[in-house]
This record gives sequence, structure tokens and C-alpha cells, in this order.
Amino acid sequence: MSGRIPRQFIDDLLVRVDIVDIIDSHVPLKKTGSNYIARCPFHNEKSPSFNVSRNKQFYHCFGCGVGGNVITFLIEFNHLSFVEAIEELATAAGVEIPYEHSTFNEPQAKNKLLDLQQLTAQIATFYIEQLKQHPHKKIAVDYLKGRGIQGTIARDFMVGYAPDGWQILAPLFDNIELLCEAGMLAFKNEQYYDRFRQRIMFPIRNKRGHVIGFGGRVLDDSQPKYLNSPETPLFHKSNEVYGLYELLKKNSRPSRILLVEGYMDVIMLAQFGIDYGVAALGTNLTATQLQLLFRSTPEVILCFDGDKAGQDAAWKSMDAVFSVLNDNRQVRVLILPPAHDPDSLLRAEGAEAFTQRIEHAEMVSAYFFNHLTATLDLTTIEGRAKLAHQAKPYLFKLVNGHFKKLMLAKLKELTELDVVIPALENTPSPPRTEKNERPSLPRLTLALLVQNLSLSEKLAKNPIDWQALDFSGIETFKAIVQKICAEKPATTAHLLEHYRGQKEEKMLNTLAFLPIPLPEESVEAEFMGALNQLLAQAKQTRLEKLLVQENTVGLNDSEKEILRHLLLR
Ligand code: UTP
Ligand code: MN
Repeated sequence: MSGRIPRQFIDDLLVRVDIVDIIDSHVPLKKTGSNYIARCPFHNEKSPSFNVSRNKQFYHCFGCGVGGNVITFLIEFNHLSFVEAIEELATAAGVEIPYEHSTFNEPQAKNKLLDLQQLTAQIATFYIEQLKQHPHKKIAVDYLKGRGIQGTIARDFMVGYAPDGWQILAPLFDNIELLCEAGMLAFKNEQYYDRFRQRIMFPIRNKRGHVIGFGGRVLDDSQPKYLNSPETPLFHKSNEVYGLYELLKKNSRPSRILLVEGYMDVIMLAQFGIDYGVAALGTNLTATQLQLLFRSTPEVILCFDGDKAGQDAAWKSMDAVFSVLNDNRQVRVLILPPAHDPDSLLRAEGAEAFTQRIEHAEMVSAYFFNHLTATLDLTTIEGRAKLAHQAKPYLFKLVNGHFKKLMLAKLKELTELDVVIPALENTPSPPRTEKNERPSLPRLTLALLVQNLSLSEKLAKNPIDWQALDFSGIETFKAIVQKICAEKPATTAHLLEHYRGQKEEKMLNTLAFLPIPLPEESVEAEFMGALNQLLAQAKQTRLEKLLVQENTVGLNDSEKEILRHLLLR
């Protein structure tokens, strides 16, 4: 990392490169009309709904809703960081990045994250070195050997050794505050000391390969067996999974991902050639973790240890599963034989037998109903009522679609209960319905502007009378319109770049590809018409309010003046 990249450079870069060329080199595109299309690389589909617009320098998938400019594409498709994506584009355009070296105007928080990232990376390296050169390394090396871990796999996963000692990191890294923030130190009796001592260290990397935290295992059977980094600005346990970076490095589009419980399980799977394993970090599976996995694969197989804790965890995970499942995503559940985890089972029966188990893992639909009905007597009304009662909250979470319909049909079959079916209508529909719904007038107006940035010239000649406008969301509307008029972004891609990471980003993404079937020559008239209509609506609302007020509490002089004015115009 060598300083900040100037905003102007990024804007220029977006002019130099062509999104169609860049995406086409990753995902072959076909031209249709003014757009280019392909089968979406971010979800599984049979017919293409992934659109790329050369005019807007923008992509959007009508199937799964992803979208953005070329920078977003590289970040998502190649799992790059923002800076890495810029670097790749600069290379493609044959230009050098003029990094700014002044740091005084850099946002504090960003610096802090980078500092933390650098620190955790250095500590991971330090622990790896200890495994090779610490005077007591033998005990750690023997432990790893005893568990059958080979050197190459240990290297892939950056396995290290935190030596015994309470004050090792502080003197080495000389920044107590940062070490604390990184979760590497603990505090007791007015003393800071190393959190991880005499443990095998498993660095946890995020999707982009940065070490964000650690898991540490004891070398004997003392407690706690595993110690994990606490929540830090870098590390949010419930948003990350262990092993995803290592997995994607080998295969960026795995056809399935196996989610297991432990660090050791992931490592052993890789060693046995099953290199699509990841682990949740000792917590209940979250929807965020599943979303993360579904961005890289259409199928997730949840694998749980055969003990009671594993079985409970399997059922608990259904909360997260049902909130992310849709027709394009598949989840299966594999519960291992009692007293086994993937590590022990692999060593007991080998990779082939284990892979067979994966192949035959139960579909989540079957697991779900089997689990619920296992303790119920469906020959009784009571049993069937209980099933309907217990299943409903989960089915409610599902987005509308074939999977949901079929699950409801299955429930009906099992319960012979018709009343559950209307739940289909009561359920909130999935967020993306723009395809069929008419957009609201403010939305349409803004979409027209976002898609036709040159309309801002029209606005320069006929400025909007903001005082006279009033609708819900007007603040955001106004801010975006004013930004477009002030900054005159060259393309929609530029506009989006200025909103990266902000709350408006998603909305702008959708607006940029909101279908507005209009011939080019009518765009301007439509836009001005929509604005006038907005003004007329606001006027009408105001008028009605004043008239009501006149008939109830009465009007003061200035309100009377406004009313007269409104009635005259
Ligand atoms: P297990 O106890 O099943 O660990 O916990 P394991 O991976 O089989 O451990 P080995 O084989 O004895 O080395 C599964 C996961 O739960 C979390 C860890 O992430 C672990 O990998 N865990 C477990 C903790 O966070 N703390 C603990 O004390 C135990
Ligand atoms: Mn184990």
C-alpha cells in the first residue's frame, strides 16, 4: 500500500477503460440492442439476465440484483480489494497510479484498519517463524505431526506457534494500543499480557487474504481448547468463515462448499484433497456467513459432528438457511456418525468414503421435514397441528418462488391442512419487484436523470424550485440531483463511484438499470414532464392542507397569502 489514490485519477481511469472489454475478457458477452448480455457470473442461471451497458459503463443482473461499475465488477468477480481493482485497471489502461503520499487528510478510521491489518499480518508471520526457530518449537511441531498435518498444508493455512510467555508481542511490536485493538493482548491486574500463549495458531483470513484474527489451540488437553480473537475493528466473527480465502485461491468458482465446525477439520479436508471446506468460527451459523459463501458457489453443504451439540447446531442453522435460500441456491445437511468429526472420520475411512457421504448429504428440504416429524405422530390431528405450527415460521422466511411453493405443498401433504397455503400471499415478497411494478414518480424522475446525465444541462437552464417540491425521500433526491449538477459525472459509472460504500449506492445501482421503455428522443420531454408533475403534486398537497386548515383552525396572514397564490396559479 503506497498512499492514497487521487479521486481524479479514478475518474479518468473510468473514462479510459471500457467496461464491455474488461467484463468480456472474464465473461464472454453477447450484443443485443444497445446492451451486452451474458449468463450472470454471480448466480446460477440458464438464460442470461446479466446486462452490461457501454453508454452507462455499468452492469446489472436482473436475476440476482448485483450491479456496479467496472471497479465493482473486478472487486466482486476476482475477489479484489478496491485498491487492487484500481491497480488492475491501471495496468489494463497502461497508466501509472500517482499515489498521494500526504497522509494528513486521510480519514483516521481507514488508517487504523490498515495499521491493524499490517500488524496482524506481521504477527502471523512471526508465529510461523516460531514454528521453525523457537527453542521450544519441537513440542509444537510434534503436536502437528501427531495430528498428521503435512508441511505444505500447514504452509497454505499459515499455521504457526505462539510460544509460552506473557510478554512476547509487546516488546516486539512496540505498540500496546494497537496490539490491544487487534485483540492480541489481554489486561488483568493492571498488566497487559499476550492473549495467545503456548498454542498452535490458525490465522483467520478474510476473503481478500488479509489476516483479521486468530484461533489458537492448546497443545495438551487444558482448557479452553480453542481461544479466538475477540471482536475487533477488523474481525467480526459472525461475518467471516475460516478457510474461504484458501479455498477461493485454488478455485474461485467451486461448485460446492462444505461448511464444517472446526479449524482442524478444514485443514484435514484440504490435506485429503477435499479443498472446498470452510468453517464457521465457533458460533451459530449466520445468514451473513451463508451469503458470503453463496457469492462464490451455488451449493453449500452443512456438515455437523455426530454429537448432540452437532445435531443441535444443525437445527439452529436453519434460521440462517431459510433466510437466504432461493430457487438458485441449494443447501444440504450432512450429520456425521456419532463421535466423529470430519478430521477423525477422514483418518478413519479416507477421502473416498467421506466424499461419498458428501455426495449423499440430505437436501435441506428433506432434513427439515424429517427433523420436525421425527418426534411427532402425524396420524393424529395434534401431531399435524404441531408440525404446521413449528414449520410455519421457517417457511415464512423464504422468499417467494418455486422452492417456497413446493415446501408449502409438502407441508400441506403432511398435515392435510389447507389453511397453511394462504401464507403464500401473506409473506412479504422478495425485495426486487421493480420489473413489474410501476416506479413512483420521484423514482422515475431520478432514474431518468441517472440514466441520462446530460439532462443536468436542462436543469442548469431551468433550476428546480426545491421550496415547491415535497415528497417522501426528497432529501436524498435533492442531494443526488445537486451532486449530478455540480460534479457533472461523465458516465453513470462515475456517479456510482462517487457513492461507493454510501447508503445511496444500492438505490442508484437499481435506478441505473430501471427499465424505462422510452425512445431516446422523448427522454427529455418525459423528464421535464415528470418534474412538472412532481411540482403539481406538491402544490396540490399543499393546497389541500391549507384548505383543511382554513376550515378548521384558520390561517394566519402569510398562509392566506400562500393560499391565494396557489389558487391563482
Ligand atoms: P471442536 O471442539 O469440535 O474442535 O470445536 P475440533 O476442531 O474438533 O478440535 P480438535 O480436533 O480437538 O483440535 C469446533 C470449533 O469450535 C470452536 C473452534 O472454532 C473449533 O474449531 N471452539 C471450540 C472454540 O472456539 N473454543 C473452544 O474451546 C472449542
Ligand atoms: Mn476434531
